[in-house]
Amino acid sequence: MVLREALRAQLAQIYAGPVEIIDRLLIAALAGGHVLLEGVPGVAKTTLAKAFAASLGCAFSRVQFTPDLLPADITGGYILNLRTQEFTLRRGPIFTHVLLGDEINRAPAKTQAALLEAMQEGQVTLEGETLPLPDPFLVLATQNPMEQEGVYPLPEAQVDRFLMKIAVPYPSEAQERAMLDLHGRAARPSPPALLDPARLKALRAEVEAIHVSEAIRDYIVALARASRVDPAVSLGASPRAALALMRAAKAAAHLDARDFTLPDDVRALAQPVLAHRLSLHPEAALEGLTPEAIIEGLLDAVPYRGPADR
Ligand SMILES: Nc1ncnc2c1ncn2[C@@H]1O[C@H](COP(=O)(O)OP(=O)(O)O)[C@@H](O)[C@H]1O
Ligand SMILES: [Mg+2]
Repeated sequence: MVLREALRAQLAQIYAGPVEIIDRLLIAALAGGHVLLEGVPGVAKTTLAKAFAASLGCAFSRVQFTPDLLPADITGGYILNLRTQEFTLRRGPIFTHVLLGDEINRAPAKTQAALLEAMQEGQVTLEGETLPLPDPFLVLATQNPMEQEGVYPLPEAQVDRFLMKIAVPYPSEAQERAMLDLHGRAARPSPPALLDPARLKALRAEVEAIHVSEAIRDYIVALARASRVDPAVSLGASPRAALALMRAAKAAAHLDARDFTLPDDVRALAQPVLAHRLSLHPEAALEGLTPEAIIEGLLDAVPYRGPADR
């Protein structure tokens, strides 16, 4: 599809890395889901999120999460106008189409919860008044891997609200060389808008209408259920995760200009949609097992029982 190729081309001017990362960002945006970008410092998480947000052509704001960030710094609140002696509503940065929550695990749980509740409900409640968030509303959050010090890991119930976790790896040697070339150029303006809010909403509606066969639905349910009985897993994929996998597969089909999903759409997205939702037993983690390896194992073990092309 034209959109995917245009996005790849313009982000390649800014980010030298695997093209799947760019495709996955777009899949999440079309599926109506929020994204967690995870990687060590300096791998271009912020750069990528800002360039992707600009490409969507929607209102955009960025919140840098810090240990002293308060819930009201995200949602806003009522402030006293000293001249009129009246309280007036100040809408926080969350009232936007695309919110970059940068280094989300540097803020304490209460502040993270304010963002994640709003993500879940599509609205913010201030002093008893409920204010809907704009539509479309998309959160791109970045975080460092959990082993780092001075971070507050997101609770399981909250990571589940991200449609995908996209791992941003170190670049390959060739990509790192290409990065130096990109930075050698003089001006690197932010990329042009490829969409706007109305167009994004229309694409989301088209994605909703993509066909998912009985066999593919059975496959998604079987994968989710298998994750819950895996002996290494203490918390498996939730029903919300199964829904997320179906939505992501539909968006992938749409970007491939198909009006139906393939088992390969599900396979390709199982890792970024499911891995962050699994918790392993401590013994399994000590043995070096990872959620990613568990998903690999599930894809090997769970058969798809349907025609290969539907
Ligand atoms: N793969 C890459 N391609 C292009 N630029 C990169 C890449 N990796 C790092 N950079 C550059 O390194 C710097 C740090 O990136 P930044 O987005 O701040 O990283 P992070 O948010 O992951 O800590 C930026 O100037 C960015 O452009
Ligand atoms: Mg950053």
